[in-house]
Amino acid sequence: MSSEPDDLPDADIADAVSPDSLERTRRRSAQIEDELATDPARFRVLTGDRPTGHLHIGHYFGSLANRVRLQDLGVESFLVIADYQVIYDRDGVGDIQDNVLNALADYLAIGIDPARTTIFTHSSVPALNQLLLPFLSLVSDSELRRNPTVKDELEGSGRPMTGLMLTFPVHQAADILFCKANLVPVGKDQLPHIEQTRVIARRFDERYGRAVPAEPVFPQPEALLSAVPLLLGMDGTKMSKSKGNTIELGTDADTTARLIRRAVTDADRHITFDPVSRPEVSNLVLLAALCLDRDPVSVAEEVGDGGGGGLKKLVTAAVNERFAPVRARRAEYLSDPAMLWQVLREGNERANAVAEATLDDVRQAMQMVY
Ligand code: TRP
Repeated sequence: MSSEPDDLPDADIADAVSPDSLERTRRRSAQIEDELATDPARFRVLTGDRPTGHLHIGHYFGSLANRVRLQDLGVESFLVIADYQVIYDRDGVGDIQDNVLNALADYLAIGIDPARTTIFTHSSVPALNQLLLPFLSLVSDSELRRNPTVKDELEGSGRPMTGLMLTFPVHQAADILFCKANLVPVGKDQLPHIEQTRVIARRFDERYGRAVPAEPVFPQPEALLSAVPLLLGMDGTKMSKSKGNTIELGTDADTTARLIRRAVTDADRHITFDPVSRPEVSNLVLLAALCLDRDPVSVAEEVGDGGGGGLKKLVTAAVNERFAPVRARRAEYLSDPAMLWQVLREGNERANAVAEATLDDVRQAMQMVY
């Protein structure tokens, strides 16, 4: 007889990105925004980045600016520099020291405040990583294999599946649950991982739930899906470090001008904002609009018959102006690496204290206190 057939029914992780489910998540996110405005102290946020390169303006408008907004609303925040996650799809860690140091400079330069946001690296927090072990017992092989984001990442890597690639969403669950975060601001592609995290939190409590006090060990975190416009790279395809079509936060004004000069446009000299039929031109319009905090349609109207050249001039000025203060602060921070490493050490210390407390809860629940 198969024992407890309901104990591990596969959760439909892929459903997290179905149209219905997306619609529900969007509606719930709008509600959460209202709650954030009235009661920010109810939330604890975790966000993270893989330090595989330098952060760029796509990261900024897609997620970094939102983290600063949440932090400034008064939400307690954790930020993982996911160094262990670097190796799920590549050999070795690359320029990890440089990437981590630059990430620290970028975070501080855009307004992440280490007094309010705990910045830490995966590899520095042993108790976080130890959560992986019980969590792995709570997921099924087929669930992991059906995770659409893992499938995409695997395909993109052009490599065979590794144990870490298959299980990195479980590791990501540990990132979120070690600090009992209840809110994770993400893009659509991360929704399957949030669903997997919720499933793990639920199953942990079904299996080991504390009788006294009768409260779950882990919250079931929710995704906060923000309505961020999708910025493409300067060649009109997905913005990505590996394609070299990005503008990094630290790029200087001249290089920015050169990158934008090379950007793809089209033959119609009359500039409009029409993302469907004119994706490249509209992407440049959108970039300027984001930098200027303006409506893209009005930006396009302003360029009018100025053509690609006129558009690029406006975009270049907008990007350089918007990021000039960030770039100045960033350079200043990078001139003092000892200070940046100290910020990380202090973040790691705090993260370790939180992770150890959570691991104690887990040991209690699992009756592994000796
Ligand atoms: N996988 C995320 C990315 O590629 C980074 C990340 C690591 C993360 N751990 C996380 C995001 C936990 C949210 C929660 O961007």
